[in-house]
Amino acid sequence: MENVEVVQKVVILLGQIAYALVPMIARGEMLGPEQPVILHMLDIQPADEILKGVKMELMDGAFPLLKGVITTTDVIEACKGVDIAIMLGGFPRTKGERKDLISKNVGIYKAQALALEQHADSNCKVLVVANPANTNALILKEFAPSIPEENITSLTRLDHNRALGQIADNLNVHVGDVKNVIIWGNHSSSQYPDANHATVDVGVGHKSVREILADDHWLKTDFITNVQQRGEAIIKARRLSSAFSAASAACDHMRDWVLGTPKSQGTWVSMGVYSDGSYGIQPGLIYSFPVTCEKGEWSIVQGLKIDEFAREKMDALANELVLVVANPANTNALILKEFA
Ligand code: LMR
Repeated sequence: MENVEVVQKVVILLGQIAYALVPMIARGEMLGPEQPVILHMLDIQPADEILKGVKMELMDGAFPLLKGVITTTDVIEACKGVDIAIMLGGFPRTKGERKDLISKNVGIYKAQALALEQHADSNCKVLVVANPANTNALILKEFAPSIPEENITSLTRLDHNRALGQIADNLNVHVGDVKNVIIWGNHSSSQYPDANHATVDVGVGHKSVREILADDHWLKTDFITNVQQRGEAIIKARRLSSAFSAASAACDHMRDWVLGTPKSQGTWVSMGVYSDGSYGIQPGLIYSFPVTCEKGEWSIVQGLKIDEFAREKMDALANELVLVVANPANTNALILKEFA
């Protein structure tokens, strides 16, 4: 049989996160060491020269898996035939809350959704990173109805990784030994990082994080706020929002989705996905759940015990997202309001 090389076309939008992400993709860290890729890079007109510079650097990287690079400021050209779309474009936060960006980003998202709807591969997998990520993903879902809803996801892996890092630091263990944290809800300052099911590998077997800590005071206080406010702390320190950690998380999210969640990472990872009503979360929201992935499909981990503390936080997050529920009328109303 003829050996047909399947090349994955990936569209990303430039900016700080993308600059960190493109070499990761070109090296095979996102889609695996055997998967050739063609990168479509989109940016706004004033950044046209910068796009060309990044293309030169990609050429200078001599990446064997990189089969082509398209740089463009035309959203339709960027989205043509893509199998994977990583939506990074949008105004970054400098102060205030992530949700304050909605009025600036809603127009960008509508245009990109329409381009994906009409020009991407019909099974295109979409990861929304730009803030407010869950809401942007929902807008995208409304304007790209032919992309299957399970193919539209938002990034909470950055928060998931941050939660692992916080536990490792607090317990003085290696981050690779910490497993099974969960980010519930929204990539907002009220997200709920949950360590109730988290474990630490200890030689043979593992111990639960709650068992290791004398009490759960830290898990209910500083652990949560540290993860919730990490993005803001980075903005204060760097005077720029997180870039390579976000790129690395986007890479983790896509890799696990496409290639499957490896056991070395624990039983599950966190992804913002379309709610099917699991854990009593209103269907249609893009909500972060613990998921496992296999053969390019995610599924929400079922049957985890939810205590009262968690329940309250999970419901509050669902309410926060209900403003733009999967009711096209509400979403359109929001968009019209923003444009009015
Ligand atoms: C992050 O969490 O680092 C990003 O979402 C940037 C931000 O606005 O916090």
